[in-house]
Amino acid sequence: MEGPPEGRRLSFAAPAPQEGASVSGWPARALVVGASGGIGAALAAALEARGAAVTRLSRSADGLDVTDEASVAAHIGALGGFFDCIIIATGALVIDGAAPEKSIRAVTPDAMRRQFDLNTIGPAMVLKHAWPLIAREGRTVVAVLSARVGSIGDNRLGGWTSYRTAKAAVNQVVRTAAVELARSRRDAILVALHPGTVATRFTADYQDRYDTVPPDAAAANLLAVIDALTPRDTGGFFDWKGDPIPW
Ligand SMILES: NC(=O)c1ccc[n+]([C@@H]2O[C@H](COP(=O)([O-])OP(=O)(O)OC[C@H]3O[C@@H](n4cnc5c(N)ncnc54)[C@H](OP(=O)(O)O)[C@@H]3O)[C@@H](O)[C@H]2O)c1
Repeated sequence: MEGPPEGRRLSFAAPAPQEGASVSGWPARALVVGASGGIGAALAAALEARGAAVTRLSRSADGLDVTDEASVAAHIGALGGFFDCIIIATGALVIDGAAPEKSIRAVTPDAMRRQFDLNTIGPAMVLKHAWPLIAREGRTVVAVLSARVGSIGDNRLGGWTSYRTAKAAVNQVVRTAAVELARSRRDAILVALHPGTVATRFTADYQDRYDTVPPDAAAANLLAVIDALTPRDTGGFFDWKGDPIPW
């Protein structure tokens, strides 16, 4: 499988689709895992507004805990048919009160393990159990919300070791699964996406320090990127503008 060409910008840099407008009726059926989150909820609403039948799954509404494989298997396994858009929008920066580390001296095995449980193993288990929901033919996009701070090549600030490392690892999960996906489902696309800095619970403690975009704007940005993806892009890591992010 060809990887994402270095430095290639997605072709949607030309006229972006109108906000809320469907690109040729796609997707027909979407699954949003983490639909209770700021970005997940906005994506589910935007997909529904353009005519997709949206299945929402979340921990708070449905009891789906992505850190528990049995829970993932039960919830995803209960779904039937195929979905042409699957978005994994779960994740957290602060887990059980453990804030992102400012220094390697603050890293603890427990906090790091929890980051991996949620931000790496969680999406991996969702991909594993959602595999049968991806049709062998026809355009399907599977997007995992990652984060630019998971980029090793782009890391110039340091800090946030556990979250960064868990996101770097989920990028490898995406890349590896995309290689496998391309063998049996040539039209399918699996990518890691950075949503930008978005005003959700996730960034609640950081919004005075960073410029944020509202969740509906982030959802529109992400859907424009998703609309423009082609099978050539599978296995890639892209930001909300469609620009590739270095691994
Ligand atoms: N916001 C940003 O600026 C930003 C930047 C870069 C990357 N991201 C990434 O984007 C994704 C979504 O972030 P967000 O801003 O929408 O965050 P959010 O509003 O805090 O939503 C987080 C979502 O993750 C779910 N979740 C947390 N732990 C879970 C678990 N154990 N099992 C199942 N679901 C769980 C939450 O479910 P419940 O609420 O139902 O418990 C919620 O749906 C994350 O992967 C994050 O790393 C966000």
